[in-house]
Amino acid sequence: MSDDLKVYNPNPAAAAAAHINGMAAYEALCKEAETDYEGFWGRLAKELITWKKPFTKVLNESEAPFFKWFEDGTLNASYNCLDRNIERGLGDKTAIIFEADGGEVTKVTYKELLAKTCQIANGLKAQGVKKGDRVVIYIAMSIDGVAAMQACARIGATHSVVFGGFSAQSLRDRIEDTGAKAIITADCQVRGGKQLPLKAIVDEALTLGGCDSIQKVLVVKRGDVAVTMKDGRDVWMADVVSGQSTECEPEWVEAEHPLFLLYTSGSTGKPKGVQHSTGGYLLHAALTTKWTFDLKQDDVFWCTADIGWVTGHTYITYGPLALGGTEIVFEGVPTYPDAGRFWKMIQDNKVSIFYTAPTAIRSLIKAAEANDAVHPKSFNLSSLRILGSVGEPINPAAWEWYHQHVGGGRCPIVDTFWQTETGGHMITPLPGATPLIPGSCTLPFPGIQAAIVDETGKDVPWGQGGILVVKRPWPSMIRTIWGDPERFKKSYYPEDFKGKYYLAGDGAIRDEKTGYFTITGRIDDVLNVSGHRMGTMEIESALVSCTELVAEAAVVGRPDDTTGEAICAFVVLKRSRPTGDEAKQIAKILRDHVGKEIGPIAKPKDIRFGDNLPKTRSGKIMRRLLRSIAKGEAITQDTSTLENPAILDQLSENN
Ligand code: WT7
Repeated sequence: MSDDLKVYNPNPAAAAAAHINGMAAYEALCKEAETDYEGFWGRLAKELITWKKPFTKVLNESEAPFFKWFEDGTLNASYNCLDRNIERGLGDKTAIIFEADGGEVTKVTYKELLAKTCQIANGLKAQGVKKGDRVVIYIAMSIDGVAAMQACARIGATHSVVFGGFSAQSLRDRIEDTGAKAIITADCQVRGGKQLPLKAIVDEALTLGGCDSIQKVLVVKRGDVAVTMKDGRDVWMADVVSGQSTECEPEWVEAEHPLFLLYTSGSTGKPKGVQHSTGGYLLHAALTTKWTFDLKQDDVFWCTADIGWVTGHTYITYGPLALGGTEIVFEGVPTYPDAGRFWKMIQDNKVSIFYTAPTAIRSLIKAAEANDAVHPKSFNLSSLRILGSVGEPINPAAWEWYHQHVGGGRCPIVDTFWQTETGGHMITPLPGATPLIPGSCTLPFPGIQAAIVDETGKDVPWGQGGILVVKRPWPSMIRTIWGDPERFKKSYYPEDFKGKYYLAGDGAIRDEKTGYFTITGRIDDVLNVSGHRMGTMEIESALVSCTELVAEAAVVGRPDDTTGEAICAFVVLKRSRPTGDEAKQIAKILRDHVGKEIGPIAKPKDIRFGDNLPKTRSGKIMRRLLRSIAKGEAITQDTSTLENPAILDQLSENN
């Protein structure tokens, strides 16, 4: 960060009214955590969570890195998100404002959401689901989706939401890995005016093998897509809940009881089932919603993420509800019926806190610059007071536009760095405290011991880049990889750091003067495309699984103005290298194949064909060279270890 970078200080009046009302308050919290780490988290866990049986011990490190938090306490997440608000007098307050793809609005109060949740919970029990069972949820953004997650939590079943954009194959993999007893889905999802089937994809997944654990498929009716119902296995949700009581005693679970599994990509192998706890997770969901978004009783909060991702879990299903907030749940897409949809929804619903991804902002900037009618200036966005960004670095130009045109120059932007594994925010500004510098996620959340180290685990000085780690366990951290504790240890607590530090997988640098963090990107083979995380190996496996065509494939990322990163695949076919139209046709076949294996989000943007890939004499693919070619850069690296230098020219040709 150079001296000429602008600093945006909190507006004094807004800051004074904030939960964390200045840097002194922030520093006092950091100090409190430093002086008495367990005391700090224990205090907050008592203040933010209602426990059935209070915990007596905050942190158990005896089986590190398998840490346990609030171990002997019991609670229920849905009680904390629903009943408790009603007991506080918020029963008639709107919990969710649901806006459908076509614009219809449905609101539910806390009382109504609780009744719905209880009916689904009772229905699940009647279908044989009980504490400890896993339930896969494959459904679009809806009140039913949120209520289904809450219903699982209510009866102690562990949910695993699979994003509606994943293919039958990906869904199958997740069903098999979780060993789920039931699936909750819908006939279809509605996006951009189209009804896209969901139940048919579930049917296909269940024919792919390995899904014998599934006993029931519960189907919500959303549209009018025809579905086939298998006798004895498939049931309509309306029939499941019909006649069920609107009351259901919560199952009081231990704090460490797995609330959910959520699959995410790693650098090797198949996606990993990140296991989250109930107590520690819920604490951080509530706490970060309170401090990072400064959520208050009269706010209207809108997180645009899908419940299929962790952002939707923490900042739709759990955090805002745990605080008794009012939130928007949006079914559709930002560009339908036009690219003014977000701005219109903020205006119509008087949204005060808005949380979205840089990729969405970048694509809406393009649309707004081409057409005044979808520019934020054509809408009344005066209700906004805080903006958030998540999922990937936000480039300073997009930050400035978001700040000026969406936030009217008055709303702080919280650039929140975190991961599926961290459960909630790790490094982020607090809106009433932190001076903002575009492009930096600023400082660690109070209590989070983020640091930058070298390969040996030694701290690097400010101003020097390194590896982002977290030095102490925190309540909402990943507990294990479902069914694979060894992979958990290897991925997150590697021996390089003597198993002491949590390895985020990102590189970072702290500003020499301010100590502010900037995330410099993944240091493993994980790509971030439109804020979606994907392993290069997964995409390579999908490509080579097209056995009739593909001999070999290597996938790398390259920078992209809109999606952040784009997927670039280098492919060697079993037949001769195609060019021209034929290359285009085969590229389309391969893209569709990847779409079918993983989902449309994994389709490579560029596919380049070669007679071979650049390899060392020992046969290792030289990915750094592929990265340069993908970017269209001249190769300046040392290529002396390369077996077949001529291949570089061939791959660099535009084909
Ligand atoms: C990876 C985690 C966080 C929930 C959604 C994505 C990147 C995330 C930021 C940010 C720079 C960011 C990192 C991280 N990332 N937020 N504010 N600035 N990079 O969760 O799919 O688990 O991906 O997203 O590379 O490791 P995820």
